[in-house]
Amino acid sequence: MKFLSKRSKSSVGLDIGSSSVKIVEVDHTKEGPVLKNYGIVKLPPEAIVEGEIMDRSLVIEGIQECMAKANIERQDVVTAVSGRAVIVKKIVMDKMNPDDAKEAIFWEAEQHVPFDIDDVCLSFEILKEDVGANQMEVLLVAAKKEMVETHANLIRDAGYNPVIIDVDSFAVQNAYELTEEEGGSRVTGLINIGSDVTNINIVQNDIPLFTRDLSVGSSVFIEALQRELGVSFEEAEAMISGETEIEDEEKCRGIISDACEELSVGIQRSVSFLKTAGDAEQLDEVVLSGGGARVPWLREILSGKHDVEFKINDSANKIGRDENLEVESEGILEKVAPVLTVSLGLALRREGN
Ligand SMILES: Nc1ncnc2c1ncn2[C@@H]1O[C@H](COP(=O)(O)OP(=O)(O)OP(=O)(O)O)[C@@H](O)[C@H]1O
Ligand SMILES: [Mg+2]
Repeated sequence: MKFLSKRSKSSVGLDIGSSSVKIVEVDHTKEGPVLKNYGIVKLPPEAIVEGEIMDRSLVIEGIQECMAKANIERQDVVTAVSGRAVIVKKIVMDKMNPDDAKEAIFWEAEQHVPFDIDDVCLSFEILKEDVGANQMEVLLVAAKKEMVETHANLIRDAGYNPVIIDVDSFAVQNAYELTEEEGGSRVTGLINIGSDVTNINIVQNDIPLFTRDLSVGSSVFIEALQRELGVSFEEAEAMISGETEIEDEEKCRGIISDACEELSVGIQRSVSFLKTAGDAEQLDEVVLSGGGARVPWLREILSGKHDVEFKINDSANKIGRDENLEVESEGILEKVAPVLTVSLGLALRREGN
């Protein structure tokens, strides 16, 4: 028996991306979660390339620097993985209780996961307990063990303890559900545009209908600006994050519009998949997050292409703030809120949640 099993009051979300490390600490107060601390530290481009860690020590330094910047004292962190080594699939299987499902999921996964079942970590959630014919609908999540372990070991080597390893897309959903006003039965496309990866998670009534990661992100815009304008990586990056003023707006808008083709096709394919599966006819709204949400004109370009409103996830700006929170500069949280979405969604989770 544990008399003193006090639930921790705060939790820390750690998001290790290819372009930066993001950390959010949330205090779970009686009035609800409040933002206690946050930090963002850029990683050198050679540290992580296309989701793969190339230089461990650079990433470890980045984590430690970010923890110091965010004044984090806790060692337990909630973190996430994403990309090709993670598979999220909705499956239908025989109706059974969750304990039995825990066993049966291995057999089911063998048919649905293109990796050796001994090499993956499995997790599942029963979405609908009864879909007729004595069947239930289950969300199956499989991630390559090797990747999960590499990620966990990296965090341990930085001096922290990963208590939960989630998936980026679900963290985004968590953050979205915190401050969503309408949501509900609307079909919402949660699109998290990172530097090299875009996580798509289409949800309705808080349930994921379709989840997929695309191997494209905001780096395509940086590369296009570098190429077309002959500017450096740093200059192009400052332009897409809205840090420098853009002189030839028309030209830049054209470059961004051309460069978003692959992303746009990826979004279109996801919608087609929904239609084919009979889950939904169209998206009612899209909520963008990640650094890519800050790319100038991207929101209106995509809204035009897909004929649906694209909003920005700014949960990290809307959530209550601890009175001791130090904010670097006026209005900065408003700006970086979409970048913090994954780390916020992770910090909102607690052990047992
Ligand atoms: N305040 C900021 N801090 C860091 N990056 C920013 C910021 N504002 C905009 N960006 C831009 O956002 C992009 C990175 O987005 P994000 O941080 O979501 O990606 P990531 O998580 O590092 O990458 P991935 O998820 O693909 O591994 C970069 O191109 C960067 O220029
Ligand atoms: Mg990311």
